[in-house]
Amino acid sequence: MDKIVVNGGAPLRGKVTVSGSKNAALPILVSSLLVSGKVSFTNVPHLMDIQSIKKLLAEMGAEVHRKEDKVTIDTSGVNKVEAPYDLVRKMRASILVLGPLVARMGKAKVSLPGGCAIGDRPIDLHLKGLEAMGAKITLDHGYVEAEAPRLKGARIVFDTVSVGATENLMMAATLAEGKTILSNAAREPEIIALAGVLNAMGAKIEGAGSPEITITGVSSLAPVEAAIIPDRIEAGTFMVAAAMTGGDVVVERCEPRHMEAIISKLEETGATLTVGENFVRVVGPEKVKNVDIRTAPYPGFPTDMQAQFMAMLTQAKGASVIQETIFENRFIHVSELKRMGAHIVVKGNDVATVKGNGGLSGAPVMASDLRASASLILAGLVADGETVVNRVYHLDRGYEHIEAKLQGLGATIERLHAS
Ligand code: EPZ
Repeated sequence: MDKIVVNGGAPLRGKVTVSGSKNAALPILVSSLLVSGKVSFTNVPHLMDIQSIKKLLAEMGAEVHRKEDKVTIDTSGVNKVEAPYDLVRKMRASILVLGPLVARMGKAKVSLPGGCAIGDRPIDLHLKGLEAMGAKITLDHGYVEAEAPRLKGARIVFDTVSVGATENLMMAATLAEGKTILSNAAREPEIIALAGVLNAMGAKIEGAGSPEITITGVSSLAPVEAAIIPDRIEAGTFMVAAAMTGGDVVVERCEPRHMEAIISKLEETGATLTVGENFVRVVGPEKVKNVDIRTAPYPGFPTDMQAQFMAMLTQAKGASVIQETIFENRFIHVSELKRMGAHIVVKGNDVATVKGNGGLSGAPVMASDLRASASLILAGLVADGETVVNRVYHLDRGYEHIEAKLQGLGATIERLHAS
């Protein structure tokens, strides 16, 4: 397994370009199942998770081709409605094929995704919504089967704000008979991006980005070409790296409007930000100020940025309190940061108090989930000496060439390929 070796100390300087959004690309690539024909998407990032979803679509009979950042999918040959365990276990977002398959093919059989490092990740809201639309749901031998000659529009109120459930049911509702209303829907930019692609296919979706989304079903959708929006979490990760190393970095080809909570929290830590149309310049403070963080659904502070900010707040004077409200086990990075000398106390499993004052020392550490791995790389950028991050395949799921991008900003970082 590859490792990444970081030597701390260099303030990051220069420009870095953000890639396409993993969490927008995944549902948008899956939405190709709703049409029969050739769709193509540009600015698709080169990530393991994208590889996985391409493999899954091909497994179903779609023809998937990639040329640089453009992915073309021909779904006219889709003849299988099953997402097998060995693919779903690698990438739980595979559950997003459920809604489109039932909507277009009348049935679907998807391995239950099961949990992952950050929590047990249930899919009850996805299934309840499909049932409300008339699907017959059965759970058997670790698979969920959903069947409906034609889904019917329904009013669905989500108990919890869920990005995936909103995406799955919004896609399913595009071909249902009648009107569907999704209430307490997720408002992330990735939802708005997906709705934009579906409407370009001929869907009738209103209200994406608000807590109530209305979808009026149509009989069929048509192929489309679309570009993937920039990745706000990758952008945020580089902005934190600039701030915590006392650097001066321009993060380019990003969408500042998608990052308001990240921008304002960074300014609270004393960083100086210049926000342009499609870039953010971050100049780090002399000394990072301690701040409190509470994760929340969009437009609140994103849970996917919690681990990265925790790494930065180990450098702050004074204590910072971080409350994780979205996932039940998203402090796995704490034990590894403590091995690097961080002073962090976790109460319950949702509140971490980071006692700052810097003083991290490089160490061999273990990556566990995507964003926890990013936080270990960031800690290595300010630690004294060498940090070796093991199991970097977690990183490769969601960051395109992160070590090359950081090298470009002056970091002393390299990837050691497993022999
Ligand atoms: C998406 O995951 C993202 N993944 C996650 O990013 C992100 O952390 C998360 O949204 C929250 O913003 C993708 O978009 C591929 P949820 P998702 O359904 O859809 C509970 C990353 O690092 N819930 O919004 O799986 C769930 O347990 C990844 O890029 C139910 O209870 O998240 C969680 O507590 C990590 N029942 C909360 O809702 C359900 O049926 C939010 O989960 C579904 C979810």
